[in-house]
Amino acid sequence: MSDISSTSSPLAPLFEAERQRFLASHPRSLALSTESQAHFLFGVPLHWMRDWPTPGTLFVQQAQGVQLTCADGHRYADFCLGDTGAMFGHSPAPVAEAIARQAAQGLTCMLPAVDTPAVGRMLSERFGLPVWQMAMTASDANRFVLRWARAVTQRPQLLVFDGCYHGAVDDTLVDRDPSTGQTLPRASVLGQVHNHAAYTRVIPFNDLAALEAALSDGQVAALLAEPALTNFGLVPPDAGFWPAAQALCRRHGTLLIMDETHTISTAPGGYAHAHRLEPDFLVMGKAIAGGLPCAVYGFSADMAQRMRAVKEQAPEGHSGIGTTLTANALTLAALAAALEHLHTPATYAHMLQQAEALEQGLMQRIRAHQRPWTVTRLGARMELQFMATTPRQADDVRQHGQPDWEAFTHLFMLNRGVLLTPFHSMMLCSPATQDSDVQRLLQVFDELLAVLPS
Ligand SMILES: Cc1ncc(COP(=O)(O)O)c(C=O)c1O
Repeated sequence: MSDISSTSSPLAPLFEAERQRFLASHPRSLALSTESQAHFLFGVPLHWMRDWPTPGTLFVQQAQGVQLTCADGHRYADFCLGDTGAMFGHSPAPVAEAIARQAAQGLTCMLPAVDTPAVGRMLSERFGLPVWQMAMTASDANRFVLRWARAVTQRPQLLVFDGCYHGAVDDTLVDRDPSTGQTLPRASVLGQVHNHAAYTRVIPFNDLAALEAALSDGQVAALLAEPALTNFGLVPPDAGFWPAAQALCRRHGTLLIMDETHTISTAPGGYAHAHRLEPDFLVMGKAIAGGLPCAVYGFSADMAQRMRAVKEQAPEGHSGIGTTLTANALTLAALAAALEHLHTPATYAHMLQQAEALEQGLMQRIRAHQRPWTVTRLGARMELQFMATTPRQADDVRQHGQPDWEAFTHLFMLNRGVLLTPFHSMMLCSPATQDSDVQRLLQVFDELLAVLPS
């Protein structure tokens, strides 16, 4: 995230004050950061852990429920929740207990554990699709589903929405040239050699005419989409968009893959289930097993039949689908516990109630201060958007987004004990989020409004 303290932004002096505040109050994190530089690139085990707006890396001592404690002993109300990985709170008790139990009984065997049938049954009950496969991460699951989709349809093309993010999946790391509508490689992606324009098409979200045009030559194997764009701010679907889009996909023989890795926060069973959509594939990762690395993808009985057929017709050997540790015993135990205890109407009722209270509190304050901002909510997750109306497409975010204000808001809130998701201003409520956490965020938001220039 950008350092705006040395720019001409009106926020620059305020941002610099927040940077100094962080540096003065996090000596232990800064020392760990220096120490880690010796053997970790950028001083972190994953380079994007440096992409927070803090002048140094925040090191975590402990995370439990929604309370996160940093190396310097400061406590934070966590609304980032590992960018959804910890959506059910950090170390939810049933999952932590299942992991501890299984840890003494075998971690990985490359054979299915005995609770496999129960897990399959629960996936089917919770998410409404009858047949499932697993992966380690949502990126993997999306890659694997794309292979299946191209194999069963015998079509080469993939269709995605402008502003999409589906993980480290080469086919999807694309942008749309606004003047020609052509597919462009995403400029920030490193080591990119694929000719994306050959196999991936990109259209604006919420644009049924563009969807119809992209599907019309019968070459598109699948539309891979989140029900709402959640990685480009939060861009919700127009009313009626998905039923119409689904019908267009059906008409053109294109498979609909819904990536619900984030929108699983919408309601029990995710967005598609709650809105009675019938995707051909459903992908979920991150929070699905309560925070342990795990992803799943489900599909219809008809699709299962077609997948069996292509696999049986293929020569023996590598399918390009799967990794050795996928569905290991530890992961399966965590998934079983999460499905039984976390993916329930009761946990969601609490999450949604807290999210509604937070949305209302933020909107009241925005109106009272007459700020041209909005809050867009989808179930338990919401986005503070520094623009007057909810965006409909990625271009709206490009035109009206305010990265400086977002970066400042993040750092200001972090310095006062509230964590938002970096890269954009997402807040997620979990079953562990208490009224006091919501009040804490609102109180810090009041403080923010009091210092921001008009
Ligand atoms: C919608 C969506 N799909 C897939 C992924 C990839 O998840 P992972 O990084 O766990 O592979 C992400 C990550 O943010 C995501 O937002």
